[in-house]
Amino acid sequence: MTGAIHAEGLVKTFGEVRAVDGLDLDVPEGSVLGLLGPNGAGKTTTVRLLTTLLRPNAGIATVAGHDVVRQPDRVRLSIGLTGQFTAVDERLTGRENLCMIGELYGMRSRAARQRAAELLEQFDLVAAADRKSSTYSGGMRRRLDLAGALVVRPTVMFMDEPTVGLDPTSRLILWNAIEHLVETGMTLLLTTQYLEEADRLAQQIAVVDHGRIIARGTPQQLKAQSGHQRVEVVIARTEQIEHAVTLLAPFGTRRPEADRPRSRISVPVDGGVRLLLEIAAALDSAGVEITDIELRRPTLDEVFLALTHEAPHPRGTEDVAVPAGASSEKE
Ligand SMILES: Nc1ncnc2c1ncn2[C@@H]1O[C@H](COP(=O)(O)OP(=O)(O)O)[C@@H](O)[C@H]1O
Ligand SMILES: [Mg+2]
Repeated sequence: MTGAIHAEGLVKTFGEVRAVDGLDLDVPEGSVLGLLGPNGAGKTTTVRLLTTLLRPNAGIATVAGHDVVRQPDRVRLSIGLTGQFTAVDERLTGRENLCMIGELYGMRSRAARQRAAELLEQFDLVAAADRKSSTYSGGMRRRLDLAGALVVRPTVMFMDEPTVGLDPTSRLILWNAIEHLVETGMTLLLTTQYLEEADRLAQQIAVVDHGRIIARGTPQQLKAQSGHQRVEVVIARTEQIEHAVTLLAPFGTRRPEADRPRSRISVPVDGGVRLLLEIAAALDSAGVEITDIELRRPTLDEVFLALTHEAPHPRGTEDVAVPAGASSEKE
């Protein structure tokens, strides 16, 4: 059973650099995968391999059921691609840009105009449709670019850092547009450095670093997996902080940390709400007054930082050929 996007043991080297280093992916039809990773992790290279713009050194990949190496034309007819660098022609209006793409793909001009009108509506560009796109804001251009990728109704969409560099409002508008697309049943692979973006848009996240997947799961699973939850207590009277630290120590999996100026103590724990209640009771019966207590679960940011710091980075340079499915990733 293979999904709309499937890759096994994908490798791409540039000289000594193993940009993609034995990557496995499986994206079920109609779902969204967020490929999350820092700069230089290999996200763009992965997208370029899957969209037939680069040939892999090893491994296999299929998109919409077609092999990216043996059937690149078929793959190209099934996909849409947008990235941080838009393919918008500035000399043309928004409408002309979309019509041109339709005609390039062999649509009759009437059909192309009809499709352009639909997309302008869908991406909230009707008012600006007949203005030169050189007058568009960054967010509008990004939306026009996305609309352009949808002219031929692809079944699989790739978005390489779609909102990088956008202001918060434009980012929200684009997120909404992407969510609407996903509701139509499209499969989407989206790369991002923004955890918030992956958390909001993707059902599955694969964290990539040094060309390898170092973790994958739903946003919730990734948060749970890192397991760094802690109890944070704010003490009413700063002079009680030492006493409170002593009382808290037995509850923690590691030593509590005190932030004296804020009268706040943080203690890593391995337990849920019951433990929180026990801690509150222990402080209360010892006469330590608290103004706030909370159980903090890790944010995706913390998970991401923990993963990208702790991951081993085997960087062999000799064995370029990795057999399909033989990648040694850490789940
Ligand atoms: N055309 C290229 N030539 C040489 N090195 C490249 C090329 N493209 C990417 N790289 C290198 O491959 C690694 C991964 O790059 P890239 O896929 O662009 O990462 P990301 O998109 O996650 O920032 C980086 O070390 C980058 O410098
Ligand atoms: Mg990139």
